Amino acid sequence: MSSATSSAAAAAGGGTEGSGGAEERGEIAYVSYGGEQHLPLVMSLVDEELSEPYSIFTYRYFVYLWPQLTFLAFDARDGKCVGTVVCKMGEHRGAFRGYIAMLVVLKPYRGRGIATELVTRSIRVMMESGCEEVTLEAEVTNKGALALYGRLGFIRAKRLYRYYLNGVDAFRLKLLFPRPDPGLPPMMIGNDRDDQKMDSPYL
Ligand SMILES: CC(C)(COP(=O)(O)OP(=O)(O)OC[C@H]1O[C@@H](n2cnc3c(N)ncnc32)[C@H](O)[C@@H]1OP(=O)(O)O)[C@@H](O)C(=O)NCCC(=O)NCCS
Repeated sequence: MSSATSSAAAAAGGGTEGSGGAEERGEIAYVSYGGEQHLPLVMSLVDEELSEPYSIFTYRYFVYLWPQLTFLAFDARDGKCVGTVVCKMGEHRGAFRGYIAMLVVLKPYRGRGIATELVTRSIRVMMESGCEEVTLEAEVTNKGALALYGRLGFIRAKRLYRYYLNGVDAFRLKLLFPRPDPGLPPMMIGNDRDDQKMDSPYL
């Protein structure tokens, strides 16, 4: 581990791989939620950048129940927390569904793929946990988020009128995971899924 990585890992709460562990990608170290020391970092990023206000109970609801679906990005040079994604998953109308609640990257760090990496990590865990789809809401005026999720394969499923406290409409975005065709023989399903692995950023 380089000294830069160890400072980020120290800020992130130590460890290497797995829950709470840091993994370096360029100058950014990504960690999954590792405990109470991460909560103020997540809260201050989200409070700073998202229009919707959240109470500490909302944050706790997400990170206590689904710590494996919250990720933080640290600048490996100084250990500063520069991005986070907060999610949940569960049954919804007969489907097992992932939900992306909050996503933020600090302004000076945008445009470097950090949000893409954070979201991709959460979606990968959702997929491995058996989710069939992922949803979220984004302001219809949020061009950056709409472009980001569009690139990741999300479609606009619904427009929600005055969804946010600031009066702005939302798009509900949805990502459906590819499922094997039950009509195909098992060998073909296997090949088909291998092809999907090549194309999918989540596998
Ligand atoms: C939206 C946000 C999380 C993107 O973070 P980011 O780390 O810059 O995103 P990435 O670098 O992974 O961007 C990936 C792609 O998304 C698109 N994108 C991201 N920001 C964009 C912007 N401002 N304008 C247009 N496209 C944008 C681009 O297609 C980009 O790929 P490219 O750089 O190869 O063109 C960040 O701008 C942010 O924190 N905004 C404020 C909070 C917010 O709106 N959160 C989302 C709530 S739904």
